[in-house]
Amino acid sequence: MSKISAQLVFAVTVIIVSSQLALAAPKETDQPNIDQIKGRKIFAKHCAGCHGPEGKGDGYLLLGPDPANLTRPTTKKNPDALLLQTIHEGKPNMPSWKGRLSEDESRAVLAYIRALKK
Ligand code: HEC
Repeated sequence: MSKISAQLVFAVTVIIVSSQLALAAPKETDQPNIDQIKGRKIFAKHCAGCHGPEGKGDGYLLLGPDPANLTRPTTKKNPDALLLQTIHEGKPNMPSWKGRLSEDESRAVLAYIRALKK
């Protein structure tokens, strides 16, 4: 291969790689996905009363455990399975949502919780 064509191959490779990086970029933005949009509605209707409009745990306070701040690191670290179980079974001061939210709705609301900003 001559020097010129090697440089050409290099230049073309750079163009292809950088255009793919540019295409990949929009996926990394904070645009909510379908689940998060659906989850937001469910959250506003059923959960925000206790957990607060932004999930910070600043809704109604009852006697006993306060609503969890869902943006705290402990919640962020808890695995999906555990949080789904809490949503299904409830907690002291938190009603059970099994039977009121479908499996899909529970996952959607969890996707919304995962996307909450601190
Ligand atoms: C009547 C008030 C109330 C409502 C309504 C409510 N929660 Fe809760 N939630 C709580 C309380 C209180 C806790 C914390 C209990 C504890 O610390 O033992 C909690 C805890 C949680 C946790 C566990 C967080 C963790 O770090 O483990 C999740 C997840 C959660 N709620 C999601 C939801 C979702 C989703 C909804 C709506 C479908 C909802 N909650 C509705 C009161 C409520």
